[in-house]
Amino acid sequence: MKISGKLKKFSSEISVPSDKSITHRLFIFALSSKKESVIRNPLLGADTLSTLTIVEQLGGKVERQEKIIIIKGKGLRDFDEPTDILNCGNSGTTIRLFSGLLASERKGLFILTGDNSLRNRPMGRIIRPLSIMGANIFSRKNFLAPLAIVGNKSGLNGINYEMPISSAQLKSCLILAGLKANSDSIIVEPFPSRDHTELILSYLGINIKKINNSIYVYPSEDLNPFDLTVPGDPSSAAFFVVLAILIPGSKLLVREVCLNPLRIGYIEVLKRMGAKITLEYSSFSPEPIGNIFVEGTEKLTATNIFPEEVPKIIDEIPIISIAMALAEGKSEISGAFDLRKKESDRINAICFNLKNMGIKVTEKEDGFIVEGPNEIRSSNIKTFDDHRIAMAFTIAALLADGESQIDNPSCCSISFPDFYDKLKEL
Ligand code: S3P
Repeated sequence: MKISGKLKKFSSEISVPSDKSITHRLFIFALSSKKESVIRNPLLGADTLSTLTIVEQLGGKVERQEKIIIIKGKGLRDFDEPTDILNCGNSGTTIRLFSGLLASERKGLFILTGDNSLRNRPMGRIIRPLSIMGANIFSRKNFLAPLAIVGNKSGLNGINYEMPISSAQLKSCLILAGLKANSDSIIVEPFPSRDHTELILSYLGINIKKINNSIYVYPSEDLNPFDLTVPGDPSSAAFFVVLAILIPGSKLLVREVCLNPLRIGYIEVLKRMGAKITLEYSSFSPEPIGNIFVEGTEKLTATNIFPEEVPKIIDEIPIISIAMALAEGKSEISGAFDLRKKESDRINAICFNLKNMGIKVTEKEDGFIVEGPNEIRSSNIKTFDDHRIAMAFTIAALLADGESQIDNPSCCSISFPDFYDKLKEL
C-alpha cells in the first residue's frame, strides 16, 4: 500500500476501537460465571476473536448481536475438554491468561498454540510459577508454545511469587490460577503494570487486594455475571493523539477512552515533551473513562524514559519514538528489553524503520536513543507483521514529504481493524 505524506492540519472528533485488554478479560470472566453476562461494544479484532473462540471451545455459550456479545459461562472450574487445540493466533494475552485458568483445572487436556510469532514468544515466565504451584504444564524446547496442560487432580497450591519482570499478562495468569488454588497467593511485581484484571475482578465482588506492588489473591467461587461496556482503547488512541500533536494547528477530540493511569503513561510522556493534552473524565468504575483533547504543538523537547515508566507505556513506545524523532534534543528509553519479545522484536523494528526514514537513532539492548529534531523521509516501511509497528510508521509516513510504501498494512486488524478508514476521515 502507498501512503502519501505531509498531511495538512486537521480538526476532528473520533472514536477508536474498544479496548483489547479489557475485551479479553471480560470474555474470560464471562466464561468463569455460570450465568449470562453481557459485553457491550467489545473489540472484535483478530486477537479478541481468538479468545472468544476458545471461550466457546471450553463450553461457553456465545450469542453475537450487533455490538454486543452475550456469554453464558461454565463457572470458574470444570470447563469442557476441547476436542481440538486452542489456537491463540497472534495473542500473548490469550495464551497467557488461559494458561493460568486451565493449569488450575483438575482434569482434561488442553493444548494451546498460535501463529509463528506467538510460538516464538517466551512462555517460561508463566510455566515456571505455574509449575511451582503444581501445574502439569509442558512446552516445546526453550519454553516455547505449543503448551500442553494436563489437569492436576489435587488442584494447585497458592504461590508467594516475586515476578522477575513487570507483565500484566503474567500477573493475570497467576491471579486466575490463584483464584482456583487450594490456598492464598501473593504476587509481587517490580513496577506496576496495567491492573484491569484486579480492578474488574474486585468490581465483580472477588476478594483481591493490592498493597503497594503486592497483589493478594484468595481461592474463590464462580464469578458473578455482569453487564459492562468496553471503553475505547487508549493504545489505539495514541496513534491519532501523536499525529495531532505533530501537526501544528491541529485539534483532535478522542471520545470515551479508557483513562486507567497505568495505560496512559504516554500522555504524561508527551506532556513532558511540551504537548497540549487535556483529559475530561466521565465515569470511574470499574475503569476511569473520558475524552482526550489534543492540540498540535509547534515545538517538542526530548525526554528520557526510565525502567519504572516502561510498563505504563509498553505498547505505545513505537508511536512515542515518532514524537521523539521530531523533538529537539536527545531522548533515551531504558529498561524496555521486553519490547524485543512482543509480536515482533519491537526495538529492532523501531530502529530499522526510523533509520530508513532518515532519523538519527542508536539501538541499545534495552531501548534506544533518538537525536532530534529530524526531517522525516518517505520510505519503504517494514511492518514485521506487527500491528503497532504498522500503525506507528504509517503515522510517520503521513508526516514525511513524498510517498511511502508499507509491506503488510492488514496486520492492523489485530487491534484496529478500521485504522486506515479512520485516517481517511482526517
Ligand atoms: C497486555 C499486557 C502487555 C501488553 C499487551 C497486552 C494485557 O503485555 O504489551 O499488549 O492485556 O495484559 P505484558 O504484560 O507481557 O507486558
